[in-house]
Amino acid sequence: MPMLPRPTVFIETYGCQMNVSDSELMLGKLAAAGYDAVDAPDGADVILLNTCAIRDHAEQRVIGRLGELKRHMKPDSVMGVTGCMAQRLGPRLLESAKHVSLVIGPDGYRSLPSLLDGARQGQRVSATTFDLEEHYEDFTPRRFDKVKAWIPVQRGCDYKCTYCIVPTTRGSERSRKLSDVVRETAQVVSEGMTEVVLLGQTVNSYFDGTHDFADLLRAVGTVPGIRRLRYTSPHPNDFSDRVIAAMAETPTVCEHVHLPMQSGSTRTLKRMRRRYTREGFMECVARLRAAIPSIVLTTDIIVGFPGETDEDFEETLSACREIGFMDAFTFKFSAREGTPATRMPESETVSDAVSGERLQRLVDTVRARTRDMNLGLLGTRHEILIEKPARRGDLLQGRTRDFRTILVGGDTSLIGTYMTVEITGTTGHTFTGAPVAARAALPMAG
Ligand code: 5AD
Ligand code: SF4
Repeated sequence: MPMLPRPTVFIETYGCQMNVSDSELMLGKLAAAGYDAVDAPDGADVILLNTCAIRDHAEQRVIGRLGELKRHMKPDSVMGVTGCMAQRLGPRLLESAKHVSLVIGPDGYRSLPSLLDGARQGQRVSATTFDLEEHYEDFTPRRFDKVKAWIPVQRGCDYKCTYCIVPTTRGSERSRKLSDVVRETAQVVSEGMTEVVLLGQTVNSYFDGTHDFADLLRAVGTVPGIRRLRYTSPHPNDFSDRVIAAMAETPTVCEHVHLPMQSGSTRTLKRMRRRYTREGFMECVARLRAAIPSIVLTTDIIVGFPGETDEDFEETLSACREIGFMDAFTFKFSAREGTPATRMPESETVSDAVSGERLQRLVDTVRARTRDMNLGLLGTRHEILIEKPARRGDLLQGRTRDFRTILVGGDTSLIGTYMTVEITGTTGHTFTGAPVAARAALPMAG
């Protein structure tokens, strides 16, 4: 009997690393169900857009892309939308985009193959029920990244920041069992990966009923063969002394934390319902730095939150100068339907023009501080893990333990290996480096 060709699937991912990880799980599930993943949408039997809903801009990009991708569809192709925007809009998406036949939220990927079977026979379905038990434990992810493994340890979020759509799109917080995370870590190490990034919406609030995030760091960080352990993104309030001690005492835990500040003004933080003050955030930074003196911090900041005054914004700038983030992801506030921030008085809305000016000043402030810090690193030596070819020329991109990007010469066979480099230049943001021979052993004294 002639073999039927295997159906093909193309997936495009938007948003955070959790979404990237979910796409890896979906492709793994679909591979097991007989699908081949392809790198281009043209002629694919199934096209999936794994979407983000965090800001309106993220959704507008997806809507634009849905229109473009329509042109790549064969008459019998199926188009599906998954992820946070799918969860947020549900059947409304089926209404507004007639070429979309499948809408699945973040907890519904277990039924992806069966829903696709239905869709390929002409059904149009939206599946957006939350499942608080779901961790896709039996899925084998098909990983995009061959150097570092993204490992989800927690899904959902129980913080209710007033600007944020995530509790609506990903439901309540739940954690995987520590033993399952350790097992997956051992698996990726056996496949040759030496860096692991633990993922969760407020990852350091991890609690599996027995073990907290400190236990998790210690357990994952001592899996034989692992060299670098990272995690993203933590909430400042969940840095218990136990967690900070586990970071300091586990040599594989890298000296970098992405610590979302959102604002440097206590008044704004309160209205964001972040549950810490400016001083509380500073104290968290101080505790991290006291325990791990070389730690490098990056952050997320929102400007133009309703009611943010010039004075509030100045406090954000001064907090950035004081702390010295190595990098900051900066955003204009975007009103998300149904979130508490949308119910604040209209008179408090910050105009787009003011938000735009603030964003520019913030970017300039962070950049100036980073540049000063980076110039001070010229001539220093770092161990880097080579991650991928750099966009620039024939260089490779490597990362230090503290999350700086260093470009070096070399061929692609070096990807996935470690190298010691000396920093030879900086653009202010990234660095160039030259390999140095591993330091010769010093003669024994006496
Ligand atoms: N508007 C702008 N930025 C937002 N973020 C989350 N929600 C919004 C919103 N409504 C930012 C926060 C968060 C990052 C992932 O996105 O800074 O840390
Ligand atoms: Fe976007 Fe948040 Fe969903 Fe990630 S969890 S995809 S950032 S909305």
